[in-house]
Amino acid sequence: MTCDLKSLIRTVPDFPVPGVLFRDVTTLISHPTGFAAAIDHLATRAQASGATLIAGMEARGFIFGAAAAARAQLGFLPVRKPGKLPVPTLGVDYDLEYGTDRLEIDPTAIAPGQRVAIVDDLIATGGTALAAAQLLREAGAVVTHAFFVIDLPDLAGAQRLRNAGLVVDALMD
Ligand code: PRP
Ligand code: ADE
Repeated sequence: MTCDLKSLIRTVPDFPVPGVLFRDVTTLISHPTGFAAAIDHLATRAQASGATLIAGMEARGFIFGAAAAARAQLGFLPVRKPGKLPVPTLGVDYDLEYGTDRLEIDPTAIAPGQRVAIVDDLIATGGTALAAAQLLREAGAVVTHAFFVIDLPDLAGAQRLRNAGLVVDALMD
């Protein structure tokens, strides 16, 4: 199963900047059974983690996180890029493999002590997921698990997350 899913990921050299091997999930999500299989895997893991809410990071994390949340009958929390939410936000700036960015959440969307699992398409340096975990925790969530379709182990993001006390699982590397 995992091998089949891996064959559905397209690798594009030098995007968005020279030297980056971009792992493109659009070829996976356009595949009817491949996308469903990926979502089933993520939903099963999120359900087993004890989370009652899935947080997904804009933009690709919305695709996998929202679908997995619906499949697992959990709620979904969008972790947004700056300036998108119409309410007061909690925000954090963070570094990417190819630049910097900022994430924001609506802190009132999380009940004190609510268990929230992170879902995204890919972990590279781990900067995005660590920033999301920090925000969610600041808002009162208990964040113990993060799930990804793809791990890029050479960039050591999964290890950074484990060092921060998270259980990390990816469908492929
Ligand atoms: C990508 C990807 C992850 C993040 C992983 O998102 O979807 O969220 O980078 O990188 P990291 O582990 O080094 O933080 P990106 O910020 O490119 O935004 P997008 O989903 O809008 O394409
Ligand atoms: N986000 C960060 N690094 C990436 C990569 N190599 N491919 C796709 N998305 C990414």
